[in-house]
Amino acid sequence: MRVGYFQFDPVFGEVKRNLDVVSERLAHVECDLLVLPELFNTGYQFVSREEAVSLGEDIPGGATTARLLELAAARRMHVVAGLAERVGNAVYNSAALIGPSGLIGVYRKTHLFAEETLWFTPGDTGFPVYDIGPARIGLMICFDWFYPESARTLALKGADIIAHPSNLVLPHCPDAMVTRCLENRVFAVTCNRIGSEERAGKKRLTYIGNSEVVNPAGNILRRAAGNQVDLSVVEIDPSEAREKRITPFNDLLAARRPEHYSS
Ligand code: ACM
Repeated sequence: MRVGYFQFDPVFGEVKRNLDVVSERLAHVECDLLVLPELFNTGYQFVSREEAVSLGEDIPGGATTARLLELAAARRMHVVAGLAERVGNAVYNSAALIGPSGLIGVYRKTHLFAEETLWFTPGDTGFPVYDIGPARIGLMICFDWFYPESARTLALKGADIIAHPSNLVLPHCPDAMVTRCLENRVFAVTCNRIGSEERAGKKRLTYIGNSEVVNPAGNILRRAAGNQVDLSVVEIDPSEAREKRITPFNDLLAARRPEHYSS
């Protein structure tokens, strides 16, 4: 199975430009699962709730989902992409999983980061896992990495690969995902963005790049630079994520002792 990421520098509010960049760069890609950044179509640094409402889209029904549906069908691939999702008066920081035959599912970010809490409604989907044939795909978004429960929940629900659209500004996530993969014996594809945003006098946000594919043994199969556009695809065997025995005596998930954990 070929999995990958497209790390690039979305421009705030320029949805058509951002969609064009993605369509053009991915026009010839050979991939089974391609992950795009969090809020890849709009940019990240919102300055008001009204802005989030006006840039939010229906999933499906909005222009961004329509373009992703075209791309997934043309390349016969699955895409996971982060975008603001408008539902009535609410706006979620969401990720859509789209396959060659249509929309498969939507995840709404559970753990909102910093000012996102001002613009977005906390997600209500839980952490979903979708069987796409060659693998079961679990979804989480960026700051969800800070809560090990996110990846653990996806592993308990049977995810082989965690698709992780991100807009990382803190330094530790790429290394932390090594532990998330090791402790859950899953693959992860983290797709971050690059560049910076400094809107309406707000503090500059610099995105750290370093998108990566990590395997269940905690090896980094590919990691992007911190400041370069990068389309990377890696061949993996998703069945490696189904072997949960660490030693003949330690079956990772079966040997959990939840009676000793606090919730
Ligand atoms: C983040 O969750 N975008 C840091």
